[in-house]
Amino acid sequence: MITEETTVQDIVSVNPELAFIFERFNLYPACIEKNLKEVSSKYDIEPGFLIKILKSFEGTIHVQDEFRDVPIQAIMDFLSRTHDYYLGKKLPEIEQSFYHLYLQYKDTHPLLILLSNFFIAYKKELTKHIQREEEILFPYIQFLIKARCEGFKSNELIEVMKSYSISTFIAEHNDMENDLAEVRKVIVDYSPAYSITPFPYRIFLIQLQLFENDLRKHAQIEDEVLVPKALHLENELLSEAQGRQSLLDNLIIYS
Ligand SMILES: [Fe+2]
Ligand SMILES: [Fe+2]
Repeated sequence: MITEETTVQDIVSVNPELAFIFERFNLYPACIEKNLKEVSSKYDIEPGFLIKILKSFEGTIHVQDEFRDVPIQAIMDFLSRTHDYYLGKKLPEIEQSFYHLYLQYKDTHPLLILLSNFFIAYKKELTKHIQREEEILFPYIQFLIKARCEGFKSNELIEVMKSYSISTFIAEHNDMENDLAEVRKVIVDYSPAYSITPFPYRIFLIQLQLFENDLRKHAQIEDEVLVPKALHLENELLSEAQGRQSLLDNLIIYS
């Protein structure tokens, strides 16, 4: 069981995939010997939030219930940090592995060029997917948070919601992890039998599998935590704005 006293090392030795969480916060491997309480105070992360994130990636909690009381801003910050981690670290690492594979086996495995095209296309799509969230969804949610905290003009809020809303995001949001599973399947089908699969190939496939698992959790937090919270906030603000508008309309009629 993960508590504030558990060290980063203990967590990663039980579940090596959780190193990805610490890497996002630049805590791994630098803080491997520290416990969660120590890393939290040193890096200004709420320890309870870090534990919830670790447990959600472990799959030992129901994310919607566990994050019910966590502010939407904290969820968005974590997802944004994850986007930076994917674009700045994970994708370049995977690309690097593929490049080594390509250099070593391009003559004996001519289909590697085809796989490289698959991977490049996937990377482009994932980058676009992340950019849409960073440049459209997150600023929109930021706008909702600001409206809630600082107040808003009903007509302006309704105008913004006419051009974009959480339902627009839901309609457009696709599963990048399933696309990666497809890419991985193509690569596995193409690979020689496991017993004779060259080592760099296996490393590359493991990297893809781990990244796919991480993406799946990321998407789950987006779909099951961020979106319901944003929808709730949006509905609350919209009904408030509409209530004010109809009050105003009635005042005009009766004046
Ligand atoms: Fe995302
Ligand atoms: Fe997404």
